[in-house]
Amino acid sequence: MAMEDIYRQYILEHYRDPRNHGHLDHPDFHAADTNPLCGDRIELDLQVTDGRVTDVRFSGRGCAISQAAASMLTERIEGATLDELRALRPADIMEMLGVEIGPARQRCALLSLRVLHQGVGGPYTGRWSDEDEDEES
Ligand code: FES
Repeated sequence: MAMEDIYRQYILEHYRDPRNHGHLDHPDFHAADTNPLCGDRIELDLQVTDGRVTDVRFSGRGCAISQAAASMLTERIEGATLDELRALRPADIMEMLGVEIGPARQRCALLSLRVLHQGVGGPYTGRWSDEDEDEES
């Protein structure tokens, strides 16, 4: 199987069997956002103890890439410091997904990063209008 196919399988596998799915009863950080173009949504709850992520849950609905990226992101950020969360960049998400994501699907891939950074005051806002200019002009 080609490497690209393995990553595609991996995305589908996360979509069908999402990790850390659900909510936390008393999250230290909570954020949610919706992709206005399709209505797909991600909610994220974080428990942070001594400056590190000790528990994380996400919920949402939407396409395979948006939900799989959120699932993978929750695994990746377990144990991370808040500064490490704020330092995550769109390129890290793309690398995590492992397949070339076309411009039309980049919003899907980055929805969970946008939500995470909203929650912890990170710099990635992923303003949809900026992305539109970058991608479609
Ligand atoms: Fe809505 Fe992917 S189609 S986030």
